[in-house]
Amino acid sequence: MTTTFTSLEKLQQITPDQQLRALIDPARVPQHVAIIMDGNGRWAKQQGELRVVGHSNGVRSVRDTLVGATEIGVKYLTLYAFSTENWNRPQAEVDALMDLLVNTLMSELDSLHENGVRLNAIGDLDSLPDSCRNTLHEAIRQTAKNDRITLTLALSYSSRWELVRMVKRLAQAVKEGRLEVDAVNDQLVSEHLTTAGMPDPELLIRTSGEQRISNFLLWQIAYAELWFSPVLWPDFRREHLFQAVLDFQNRERRFGLTSEQLDPA
Ligand code: IPE
Ligand code: IPE
Ligand code: MG
Repeated sequence: MTTTFTSLEKLQQITPDQQLRALIDPARVPQHVAIIMDGNGRWAKQQGELRVVGHSNGVRSVRDTLVGATEIGVKYLTLYAFSTENWNRPQAEVDALMDLLVNTLMSELDSLHENGVRLNAIGDLDSLPDSCRNTLHEAIRQTAKNDRITLTLALSYSSRWELVRMVKRLAQAVKEGRLEVDAVNDQLVSEHLTTAGMPDPELLIRTSGEQRISNFLLWQIAYAELWFSPVLWPDFRREHLFQAVLDFQNRERRFGLTSEQLDPA
């Protein structure tokens, strides 16, 4: 009797995120998950606060999602934090976002390191204010040997910026005789993107109900499964990530083949 009571009690103590987590097949977890973190401004507006309050509350979501991703064995988590186009927002918001980045990196660095997180950044990092770039590079350097999960922040990033940069580099190599035109293929293009060395994302999540890509990883998501959530980023938690992964695991990824080819009866 005592045992039954204890196990029932234990079962009731399992939180919703643990219940969802238990349903995930560990053998089919996406290696690389990319997230367009959207809806901070609307979240703040709902609370009657300034937009920047939404951004600072988004930090908790990053932390929780990172922990969740690590728990289920995701190896690469790539977060769209600031796009090339976001430079055109009001200067006060841009400044607040850059300050938030520096402060968050400084306050989270020890915890990232202790949890085996390797930090990485993609985008036009030269365009970031010096304080941001320096703090970022230092955090990247300090966590370089960690290998539990790679957290990539896309900062001053846009896919078209990245693709133009790749084309210029390849064209230059051809011009200088270091590359034959016929040697240009899928793999070479991938190797000249900022994500070189990473597997393509298998799952792309966008929060806030918007169903668009907004210039994010256009080449890399060629075959990613897309998952759009109505949840605003500051409300996003690991259980939402687990829901997305469960949905991903219930899909058939055909890569141009037929169902019958994938699963011959
Ligand atoms: C995403 O939230 C964060 C960044 C783009 C930096 P938004 O700031 O875009 O929030 P909404 O879309 O206006 O609600
Ligand atoms: C995309 O969100 C960029 C980031 C999440 C950093 P935006 O809010 O800038 O995208 P749009 O303008 O709604 O397409
Ligand atoms: Mg937005």
